Amino acid sequence: MSRLDIIDLGYLVSAVLFIMGLKGLGRPRTAPRGNLLGAAGMFLAVLVTLLNQDILTYTMLALALAIGTAIGAVLALKVKMTSMPELVALFNGFGGGASVMVAAASFIEAVDLNAHTTQISVAAAVTAFIGAITLTGSMIAFGKLKGSLKWSGFPGLSLLRAASLLVAIPLAVLLVMQPENQGWLWALVAAGFILGVLGTVPIGGADMPVVIALLNALSGVAASTTGFVLDNPLLIIAGSLVGASGLVLTQVMCKAMNRSLLEVLFTAAPTGSSSGDDDYGDGVTATSGEEVAMLLEIAKRVVIVPGYGMAVAQAQHAVRDLMVKLEASGVEVVFGIHPVAGRMPGHMNVLLAEAEIDYELLFDMDQINPTFARTDVTIVIGANDVVNPAARTDPDSPIAGMPILDVDHSRTVVVIKRSLSPGFAGISNPLFVADNALLYFADAREAVLEIVAALHEG
Ligand code: TAP
Repeated sequence: MSRLDIIDLGYLVSAVLFIMGLKGLGRPRTAPRGNLLGAAGMFLAVLVTLLNQDILTYTMLALALAIGTAIGAVLALKVKMTSMPELVALFNGFGGGASVMVAAASFIEAVDLNAHTTQISVAAAVTAFIGAITLTGSMIAFGKLKGSLKWSGFPGLSLLRAASLLVAIPLAVLLVMQPENQGWLWALVAAGFILGVLGTVPIGGADMPVVIALLNALSGVAASTTGFVLDNPLLIIAGSLVGASGLVLTQVMCKAMNRSLLEVLFTAAPTGSSSGDDDYGDGVTATSGEEVAMLLEIAKRVVIVPGYGMAVAQAQHAVRDLMVKLEASGVEVVFGIHPVAGRMPGHMNVLLAEAEIDYELLFDMDQINPTFARTDVTIVIGANDVVNPAARTDPDSPIAGMPILDVDHSRTVVVIKRSLSPGFAGISNPLFVADNALLYFADAREAVLEIVAALHEG
């Protein structure tokens, strides 16, 4: 068996492992095995790629590996758990950037050696454009998730955005017709950079989850088209899997926001400008840990709804303590999970899994909503937008029509948050002044621990 046959066979096995891994990731129970299969597939892919003598020298690879490992280790040690969503957005961007560089280098080399084909030119053009969009789009998403970027555009942005999209077509045609003119390649990269910025800047508020998922899909598409430039079947398959699963996720996020992808991309981002306290007058009823514990002691069914604030406070372990204590006294405890709660897809699931809370207790919106009416107490822990009844009742609300967790239908709702500040979408929340709502103003972790302690005393 020749070296090339071994590489091809290795790639085939890797591709099968990737597909089996992805299938495993579809269900919480099989997800750890799916993860392992995917990692094994990637390990094998790297191993057989190293057999390819056309790649860089091993010294160069070792150097790149050392630099990448050092940066990765520093990030892993330094970045706080609450900054993970931004980091994931940035990694998407790096994927797009790497695709641009690899595709451009291979294309230029192929042209120099006069070995370029139409397939290589077309794939290089698509990669240059999509990879560049992914890179700058992800940088903007990073800034928005971090909260450091408030810029939402300027007059005429839509026109410029349309122009940078349309100009890509003639540039790609010119690159395919005149591959020896590198200028077309860099012009496509520049158009992609501009579209990445202009396409992401106006999107904000509740629409961000869709953008994150879409950028993830684009990074997969860019990797896949790089595979066509390199004539590497494994990169084509792996990139397509990322692209396709990213598109499915984009669709799920659109459904969760009740917005179409076109609406998200081409209409102004719905954001609010709530000032917090001024919106509520005297309508808010504050509560304490002891009072909540008393309510819980007579409850039969309790639903816990976590949100971004639980991640900020790292309250998941305290939440588990609360669950265990309530269950020990015969209370039924379940969790209601909104698909866009937190700042990244699956954010709440990951945190609750870390605290070893059984997946069987986690219910999605469609399952949990009909049960709120027979729930004695719902505890909202650092969630805001995903429980905002204005989405249901106020047609003028920026989140009108977005499906939410109907926590206001339960007999009593306890909302744990530090102040009356709005959530990510920046809008006021009528839940806070509902007759059946009690606000517990505290850090989520401290509040939950206090409730647990008060339950103990009782
Ligand atoms: P948000 O609406 O953002 O509300 C989070 C709440 O947590 C805030 O009201 C904040 O109020 C509270 N909080 C912050 N730190 C806290 C702490 N230490 N202790 C207690 N409370 C704390 O969160 P959500 O309900 O999870 O909704 C998610 C939002 O993010 C949606 O608008 C969604 O569109 C957006 N988004 C989601 C994603 C994905 S993919 N999930 C990505 C980007 C954006 P205080 O400051 O008063 O405490």
